[in-house]
Amino acid sequence: MNLIRRPRRNRQSAVIRDMVQETRLSVTDFILPVFIMEGKNVRSEVASMPGIYRFSLDLLLNEIQECVDLGIKTFDLFPNISESKKDKYATESYNPDGLYLQAVRAIKDRFPEVMVMTDVAMDPYSSDGHDGIVENGKILNDPTLEILGKMALAQAQAGANIVGPSDMMDGRVGYLRQVLDEGGFHEVAIMSYAAKYASAFYGPFRDALDSAPKFGDKKTYQMNPANSREALIEAQLDFEEGADFLMVKPALAYLDIIKLLNDNFHLPIAAYNVSGEYAMIKAAAQNGWLDGERAMMESLMAIKRAGANVILTYFAKEAARLL
Ligand code: PBG
Repeated sequence: MNLIRRPRRNRQSAVIRDMVQETRLSVTDFILPVFIMEGKNVRSEVASMPGIYRFSLDLLLNEIQECVDLGIKTFDLFPNISESKKDKYATESYNPDGLYLQAVRAIKDRFPEVMVMTDVAMDPYSSDGHDGIVENGKILNDPTLEILGKMALAQAQAGANIVGPSDMMDGRVGYLRQVLDEGGFHEVAIMSYAAKYASAFYGPFRDALDSAPKFGDKKTYQMNPANSREALIEAQLDFEEGADFLMVKPALAYLDIIKLLNDNFHLPIAAYNVSGEYAMIKAAAQNGWLDGERAMMESLMAIKRAGANVILTYFAKEAARLL
């Protein structure tokens, strides 16, 4: 055959393949989500997330040290709160002596160079298991913002570097920016969950935190998986309201949304490779149905190739070891 174009020429050896590789993963791309819980000397594995643990404060610091040694520098914290501390208004979320804010302070004390990202949402502390105040079965938007404001301010006071509103209430990015600025926290960044979908892939996370909604679902605030143009509206609003990063969540089933936001906005784009995405690969690998390491690296690469500069992933430690 007289073929002028032979794409295989650029795949013929490892050296050439490496030279023409367009996307590269780096440990600096990753943010590791970390689950914390009350108690001493507790390290409890999440049943649906093999290899992922909830840590009590004392063990948390050892875990962070291990991650820092692997080059992971940013952590996103999520608390498992005992049922007795939950209420309708998530008041435990801004208790300065509560588990969560203690953890933020402890990490920043011991590892000042580490970036601590905090989660701004009511669900882990809400007796209704929702991300907003519930009244007569409805999620109230504007009154919820006040609670989110108190939460973000308390997190900033504890030393958080990035706050991550994961609630999907309207107007929360602008409201948080205002509260943070008034509190003197101009340097605290906002990573908004701009396009967060009402997804089945959050199941294992809700197991980890015992935070599943007590009734109904989250479809009046999280987005319909069928929609992509709507993601542009959400991202535009968060951009105008002052977000520093725009996040897409989940990641793998939403690579088109990652690309859409990357093409249309000049902010860093983050993607959350969520608990269910982690669980799927782990389960298949444990059954010997696929090569877990390769599936992990291929997924992370795909998320980056689609346009995410920042990847929140439970695989961060494992991937860091391979990189
Ligand atoms: C809720 C929140 C969720 C996740 C992060 N923050 C779940 C939900 O919306 O119910 C999911 C993360 C994951 O699945 O890994 N504020």
